[in-house]
Amino acid sequence: MLSQKMTDALNEQINKEMYSAYLYMSMSVASNEMGLKGFANWFMVQYHEEMYHAMKFYEYVGRQGGKIALKAIAEPPSDFSSPLDMFPKTMEHEQFVTRSINDLMDLAIEEKDHASRIFLQWYVTEQVEEEENDNDMIAQLKLIGDNPQGLMMLDRELAGRAANVPTDFSKGVEGAAEEG
Ligand code: FEO
Repeated sequence: MLSQKMTDALNEQINKEMYSAYLYMSMSVASNEMGLKGFANWFMVQYHEEMYHAMKFYEYVGRQGGKIALKAIAEPPSDFSSPLDMFPKTMEHEQFVTRSINDLMDLAIEEKDHASRIFLQWYVTEQVEEEENDNDMIAQLKLIGDNPQGLMMLDRELAGRAANVPTDFSKGVEGAAEEG
């Protein structure tokens, strides 16, 4: 059972994860416009990850008997000049999400909501990986600097990134995760 405060906070988080998906979709569009199909792929994989994050929250609230409240998703920025413009913004956004997950965890601890605490643990760990990925990308892009050849090589490498989260939720999130 969830408190109303926890239900509201989890619903807010669904919105933040959906916005994250939207933001990375926008970065994928921008990458395609720059002719960087590998980066476009990387961001589309990220989009799928965020949809999975959102759907996990959605399913958890439903399973706990909470009322799902879907809010409007804000328009993401679309004016990006380069990968080195996008990745620090990605990092900044992930740090915002990390703070939000930490706030949810603080609330679960405060309310002695052990089920939510255990559920949220997955996200705490996931955020470490999200920030690490962005740090790695920023470091590589700084090394490449203004070298177009280096950028093309990285673009080719990123074309190989595949989604390792379920993308079909027709059997629910848990069902999809078991199959995936
Ligand atoms: Fe859902 Fe990238 O955090």
